[in-house]
Amino acid sequence: MCGIVGYVGKKEKKEILVDGLRELEYRGYDSAGIAIIDSRGLHSYKAVGKLVNLEEKSKEFSSKEFGVAIGHTRWATHGKPNELNAHPHLGKNSFVVHNGIIENYTILKDELKLEGFEFLSQTDTEVIVHLFEKNTINSLNKFEAFKSTISLLEGAYATLLITNDEPDSIFFAKNGSPMLIGFNGDDIYFASSDTAIIGKATSVYYLEDGEYGYAKDGKVTLFNSDGEQEFRTKPLSSNKLSAQKDGYRFFMEKEIYEQASVVSDTMMGRVLDETIKFEEIDDNFFNDINCIKICACGTSYHSALVSSYLFERVAKIRCEVEIASEFRYKEPLLTKDTLFITISQSGETADTLEALKMAKKAGLKSLAICNVDNSSIVRESDISLLTRAGVEKGVASTKAFATQTLLLWMLVLYTAERKDTISKDSLKDEIEALRKCSNALKVDNWLHDKIHRLSKRYLHGHGFFFIGRDIFFPLALEGALKLKEISYLHAEGYPAGEMKHGPIALADSELFTVALMPKNLLFDKIKSNVEELSARDTTILAISPEEFELADDYIKTRCSSHVMLEFFEMMVVTQLLALEISIRLGNDVDMPRNLAKSVTVE
Ligand code: AGP
Repeated sequence: MCGIVGYVGKKEKKEILVDGLRELEYRGYDSAGIAIIDSRGLHSYKAVGKLVNLEEKSKEFSSKEFGVAIGHTRWATHGKPNELNAHPHLGKNSFVVHNGIIENYTILKDELKLEGFEFLSQTDTEVIVHLFEKNTINSLNKFEAFKSTISLLEGAYATLLITNDEPDSIFFAKNGSPMLIGFNGDDIYFASSDTAIIGKATSVYYLEDGEYGYAKDGKVTLFNSDGEQEFRTKPLSSNKLSAQKDGYRFFMEKEIYEQASVVSDTMMGRVLDETIKFEEIDDNFFNDINCIKICACGTSYHSALVSSYLFERVAKIRCEVEIASEFRYKEPLLTKDTLFITISQSGETADTLEALKMAKKAGLKSLAICNVDNSSIVRESDISLLTRAGVEKGVASTKAFATQTLLLWMLVLYTAERKDTISKDSLKDEIEALRKCSNALKVDNWLHDKIHRLSKRYLHGHGFFFIGRDIFFPLALEGALKLKEISYLHAEGYPAGEMKHGPIALADSELFTVALMPKNLLFDKIKSNVEELSARDTTILAISPEEFELADDYIKTRCSSHVMLEFFEMMVVTQLLALEISIRLGNDVDMPRNLAKSVTVE
C-alpha cells in the first residue's frame, strides 16, 4: 500500500511532496523518496526508514521555480527495504514512482537487460522507466512512448513518470491501485489518497482503472481505451482524519471492507492459472521437510489452526500448531525435518519472536508469514511471505487474519503440488476458488444493515458461545476473540462437538450461541449440536446458507461452491457482528481498553 504524491507548478515542490507523503504515513512504509525536475535539471533524494531521514538528506534543497515533482513511500513487495529499492527509480533522465505489482516484470526486465539496460534495484517498478526510455526512441513524442509503455504492463499499477526530455509534464496511469488528481488554479496535484492534498487542492478527480494521460500547462489531458475523455472534478473535503478513514466510522470498519481488495494483492503474481508461485521459496526448500510446526499468538494463532486442517488434509503433511507463549517454556521436542512457521501481523510479537529463535537454535528451517517487511520476525526468518494487507490500524485484527488465512491456503496448495498429493484438476478447482475469495469478502449493504439491526439483541446476557467444526472451530475462536476485544462481553469459541462435555451446563435463554453452519462441511453434525443447545433454550444465532428453523436469529450466507469461500463469508459476518455490538455499547472500536496493536513484551 505505497503512497504516491505528484505536483506540477510554481510552488516550492519539496515541501509539497514531503507534506503529502507525511499524510500518507498511515498506509505504512519502509522507505521514501522524491524526484524534482526544474530549470536546474534533475534532483532526487531517497532514504530508508521514516520521512525524517528523507528530510534530513534533502534539507539543503528547495525548488521554488516552475517544475514537476513526484514522491513515494514504499511498502515492500519486491525486494528488501533499502535505498536502491526505494522509489523514485531513475532511467537516464526520467523518474518513475509506482504503487501496485507488475505481474510480468521479470519478462520485461529480462528483455530490457538483453538490450543493454542496466537495473539497480530488485523492484518490479524499475522496468517502467527503462521501458519508457526505450520506447522514446521510436515514438512520435514522450506521451506516445508513455502510452506504449503502459500498454505492456500487466497487473496493478498507479504510476507517475517525469522526464528531463519534457520537463513541464507529468505522465500518469491508473489500473487497480488508487490515484487521484487535485486542482487549484494552475497547480495540479497527484496522490494515492486525498489526505495528501487536503489544504492544497480545492477540487479532485478520482481516476478510474484504465485511465492515463498527462498534466501540462495547467491542464490535464485524460484518455482511456476509447481515446481522449472529458472528466468532471468535485470539491475536495477538508477533514484529514475522516479522509484517512475514507468515510468509515472506524479504521476497523474500513479494514473489514478492504479485505475484498487486499486479498487480490496477496494473490497477485502468486496465484497463476494452473499453479501457485512463491518467488521467495527455492524449489528444493521443502525437500527434506516431513512436518510443519506453526507458532503464533492471538488471531495469528487462529489462522495457523485453520491451516493445520488444510496441511494435513490436502498436502498430507503433519502440522502442529502452538501458542508461542506456551511453546517457549515447554521444552519442546524439535526435529530438523520440521519447517517452523511463524505467523504475525506486526512481526514484533515478543513470544512469537522468541519461539522463532528457539527453533532456529535447534537448527530448523524457518518461514514467516507477516504483514510488515523488515520487521524483527521477518529479519530473523530464513524466508518470509508478506501478506500485503497494508497497514492494519484497528487493534482488533481483521484484514491481517483474512490475508494470513488466504496465504496459508496458497502455501498448502504449493506444498501439495510439490509433494504430488493433489491432482492437476483439483488444483485448478482450488485456484478457481481462490480467485472467488475477493467476491466472498465483499460486504453488501443489506448484510451490514441486517447485522446492525440484529446486534441490538446481543448487548446483555451472560455470555456467548461461538461454535463450529473443523476449520470453523478456529473461526469460532476468532469470532469470540473479536467480540471480546471490542465489546468487552464474555465470549468463548468451542468445537461444536464439545458442548455436551460440560459447556452445555451453561445453556439457558441468556446464553447466546453463534453457530457457524457451512453447507459444504459436516452440516448435519453441526446441526445436531445446535439442536442440543436449542433444546436447552439457548438463544441461537445461526450463520448458514441453509435455513435453520430452530434459530432465534438467522443470517443467510451465499451457498458457495467451496468451503473456504463459506469460511471467508462467515468470517465477515462475525467481524461485523463484533463491530456493531461494540458501536452500540459506545466503545472505542479502534483502540479497545487494555489492548495494544503489537505485544512486544512478554
Ligand atoms: C488480534 O485481534 C489481536 N489484536 C491479537 O490477538 C493479535 O493477533 C496478537 O497479539 C498477535 O499479534 P501479531 O499477529 O502481530 O503477532
